[in-house]
Amino acid sequence: MIPLLLLFLLLPSTFCLICPKEYFLVNDSKCLKAAWAPATHAHAEANCTESGGTLVNIKNAIDNRAVFDFANTAGLQSIWIGLSCFSNTTSSCFWDDASGSAASYSNFDSLGIATNAGSRNCVYMMVANGYSGKWSSKICFNDISTTTIGYICEAPPSVDQSSYSPMSPVCNHNYNRNCYMRSDDYGAVYYNQSWANNFCWNMGYTSLASIHSKIDVDFIRSLYKGTNTTQVYIGAMAETADRFNWMDGTPWDFNYMDPLNFQKAKCLVMDVQGDGLWSPMDCDQKLPFLCSRKVKDTSAAIAPEAKLQEPNILDASNCNSTLILAPGSISSFGYPGTPSGTCIWQIRTLGPYRLGIYFDLWATLGSLSIYDEFEKNIGNVSGAYYTPPFAKYTPFNIAKVVYEARREPDPNDRGFHAVIMMI
Ligand SMILES: *[C@@H]1O[C@H](CO)[C@@H](O)[C@H](O)[C@H]1NC(C)=O
Ligand SMILES: *[C@@H]1O[C@H](CO)[C@@H](O)[C@H](O)[C@H]1NC(C)=O
Ligand SMILES: *[C@@H]1O[C@H](CO)[C@@H](O)[C@H](O)[C@H]1NC(C)=O
Ligand SMILES: *[C@@H]1O[C@H](CO)[C@@H](O)[C@H](O)[C@H]1NC(C)=O
Ligand SMILES: *[C@@H]1O[C@H](CO)[C@@H](O)[C@H](O)[C@H]1NC(C)=O
Ligand SMILES: *[C@@H]1O[C@H](CO)[C@@H](O)[C@H](O)[C@H]1NC(C)=O
Ligand SMILES: *[C@@H]1O[C@H](CO)[C@@H](O)[C@H](O)[C@H]1NC(C)=O
Repeated sequence: MIPLLLLFLLLPSTFCLICPKEYFLVNDSKCLKAAWAPATHAHAEANCTESGGTLVNIKNAIDNRAVFDFANTAGLQSIWIGLSCFSNTTSSCFWDDASGSAASYSNFDSLGIATNAGSRNCVYMMVANGYSGKWSSKICFNDISTTTIGYICEAPPSVDQSSYSPMSPVCNHNYNRNCYMRSDDYGAVYYNQSWANNFCWNMGYTSLASIHSKIDVDFIRSLYKGTNTTQVYIGAMAETADRFNWMDGTPWDFNYMDPLNFQKAKCLVMDVQGDGLWSPMDCDQKLPFLCSRKVKDTSAAIAPEAKLQEPNILDASNCNSTLILAPGSISSFGYPGTPSGTCIWQIRTLGPYRLGIYFDLWATLGSLSIYDEFEKNIGNVSGAYYTPPFAKYTPFNIAKVVYEARREPDPNDRGFHAVIMMI
């Protein structure tokens, strides 16, 4: 009786951590979900994303042990983990949660990162047969019949506020330590932006929502799945033209503006049925809206918030890059002057996402081709000065883009510029 009571008294410091539906809290820090059905890497990523996570991220030996134990207990032989390598060094392997590369911790077996065609390595953990958690890699997009590996998804934990203070206001949708409220939660409530923001405040939220990562964008999209709501106000305003700031005072550390929307306006809406991109909107429009507040987090023990920093561009030279990790941009050599020569870009983004290539200027007689991870041509653009802006998408997270300027330079030719985003 007494040991039980003691155990109970020791627990409250961690009681408050909660996981999204289907996920289990493991070792008081990680929310994990095991999937027994073998899947290609891409299917595994899609499935994890669907439930608010990514493939599991492993940053140290303690994590590795916990993930190994979880997989082993679940009876899995080998599992995809959320690490994609773009060459044969650990510093070229990037975690799904955008926390960076595997340079500081990795657990590859003695063969190291295999060099499957140089740049197509997805990493899995070997669980059975005494491998005890060593990693190896495979071509990501193999035929499903030859890539039969289980997987483990990870979602960011959040905090149950009521465990701190029973008086705390209602948290309509709790995810990644944010409480969200949709105006849809109260029916067809449409307000102009300032009234929308007041409504948020009156309901116990800081303001219209601020958004700081791709995983949060995807969670918000899931909140509107199956509804007729297409765009909602979110909590940013333009102080000066084009420079938006979050109304709750949090930093503008993640940008998901639609590169092809050139409208000028002071308020911001999110396209909740499409890719989740943001566009300027006239503040007088009466629209549905989304509110947020940070969950008060008094626990020091909590794992750092899952946060999607903008990955760095590995090679910023604007032609013939060894590797560009989206988000970023590309343009013809000499842009905005007359282009010359040929440029080849190797473009990548994190494992769970696709690439969106947004051509905001195409004013060239040159030609451009996009290739997927199998070197298959998936699109050509050519000819014509001044084409209306357009976008191209890749099926997975890898693309090669080749641009050839017209052989005889023409002073009217201004080249092209494209913004690359993870979608
Ligand atoms: C996720 O996995 C489950 C079980 O394997 C499967 O039924 C479901 O279709 C998958 N969903 C996606 C989006 O791949
Ligand atoms: C849980 O994490 C602690 C350190 O935070 C570590 O000492 C312990 O071994 C971990 N337990 C498991 C089952 O991984
Ligand atoms: C990595 O690849 C480079 C060339 O692509 C090669 O020179 C090098 O030996 C490889 N290193 C390992 C450890 O396989
Ligand atoms: C917003 O709408 C309310 C109610 O319709 C109105 O009273 C208010 O003046 C509007 N505010 C702005 C800034 O347009
Ligand atoms: C969405 O709109 C359609 C047609 O207008 C309607 O039949 C349907 O009930 C609406 N769905 C929701 C969830 O409001
Ligand atoms: C880029 O590489 C291509 C093919 O290797 C080459 O023809 C071209 O001159 C290079 N462009 C520049 C600007 O170095
Ligand atoms: C692009 O052009 C090449 C060569 O003209 C052609 O083989 C390829 O099928 C084209 N790609 C698409 C997607 O139309």
